Amino acid sequence: MFVALRLCGYLSDMEQFSFSYTKTSVGKLSERIAALIGTARNATTLAYAPYSGFKVGAAVLMEDGSMISGANKESAAFSAGICAERAALSNICFGDHGHRVLAIAIAYNSENGVAMPLSPCGVCRQFILEVQQQQGMPIAVYMTSPNDEVIVVDDAAHLLPLYFSNSFLKQEA
Ligand code: THU
Repeated sequence: MFVALRLCGYLSDMEQFSFSYTKTSVGKLSERIAALIGTARNATTLAYAPYSGFKVGAAVLMEDGSMISGANKESAAFSAGICAERAALSNICFGDHGHRVLAIAIAYNSENGVAMPLSPCGVCRQFILEVQQQQGMPIAVYMTSPNDEVIVVDDAAHLLPLYFSNSFLKQEA
């Protein structure tokens, strides 16, 4: 009884988070996004993944049309490694480009035959969101699979509900 009452209380305050995403294939996307995915795929060859055998590439599309890529780099001290998404975003020299990030594409090659679209890890979601907050414009995320399936999310914030934002660190006015 007590549990039921508590549950009702929670339900009356309930809020929901939902978002839309598109499931598509590389061939149905624009030439520019197909090229971005191609750049992410090429970047998998730069991966250093001797421990997992899971080679990930990421490519970032800038407002001026330039593409910047990165790949995962593992370390014998496991936590010192870096994912492809953060490597690519860290390769952006914001001062030089002076432009914002429109999209990020993620691709992978694995030795285990998995073929579903690669969803970024939690740390990378937080990292992408930092750039998004900094530039004040949403970043689209293209999650791709080796067999051309793609999941598209138009706003990286959709991938991390209730995320830790820089507003927690701001002084009250
Ligand atoms: N990895 C990425 O580079 N991006 C992701 O979104 C998920 C995982 C890397 C980290 C590690 O080198 C390997 O994939 C296996 O987890």
